[in-house]
Amino acid sequence: MQLARLLFSQGFGARRECEGLCASGAVSIAGQVVDNPFEEVDPAGLVFRVNGMDWPFREHALVLLNKPAGVECSRSPKHHAGVLALLPAPLRRRGVQPVGRLDADTTGLLLLTDDGALIHRLTSPKHHVPKVYEVTTKHPVEQTLVDRLLAGVMLDDEPLIVRATGAEITGTHTLRLVLTEGKYHQVKRMVAAASNRVEGLHRSAFGSLQLPADLAPGHWRWLDPSEL
Ligand code: URA
Repeated sequence: MQLARLLFSQGFGARRECEGLCASGAVSIAGQVVDNPFEEVDPAGLVFRVNGMDWPFREHALVLLNKPAGVECSRSPKHHAGVLALLPAPLRRRGVQPVGRLDADTTGLLLLTDDGALIHRLTSPKHHVPKVYEVTTKHPVEQTLVDRLLAGVMLDDEPLIVRATGAEITGTHTLRLVLTEGKYHQVKRMVAAASNRVEGLHRSAFGSLQLPADLAPGHWRWLDPSEL
């Protein structure tokens, strides 16, 4: 693939901008500046450098972000900054979107990708992808709360009862909850329906992926689809 075309596919701007980026000497491969935009390069496994930053070639972008509190997942954020502002411009230009949503005050593991089919697969209730939430409650956590969440609660506008697939007490005011659906404000509404209140919410796992302990809030890293 021609280098400028490759840069275009990875979100580095319009074709002409990518040609200009190469011609300016901003792009290097294996330590060598490649200033010919039409140079043929093999994208498979390629890591190229643009203005001092390394980029792996990816047909689809897939990243894991440690979402901080105070950012919105929606495309047109209203009250806070948008989560996409935490990613570099090439990822935003590629049309990366969150896989499901976390509330503005929820922290933790958020996947983002430009692969629409993957978003569908990971968010479809049919696929039962488990999500693990660490919940801090206003009132003490008792076994009755856990039992109610596991047995199922009624939520407004939901025709059927909604159950947690896992719930365990982790402290006097904390519990770990596993859900396989992704309904609007689901944890907060379920805990409220079971007579307590969520004061803090953090997603620690999504499917088989754990939030890496060394990934600080607001930071992201590339994911390989095989890690999912
Ligand atoms: N459930 C909620 O209530 N909020 C979230 O952000 C995620 C799950």
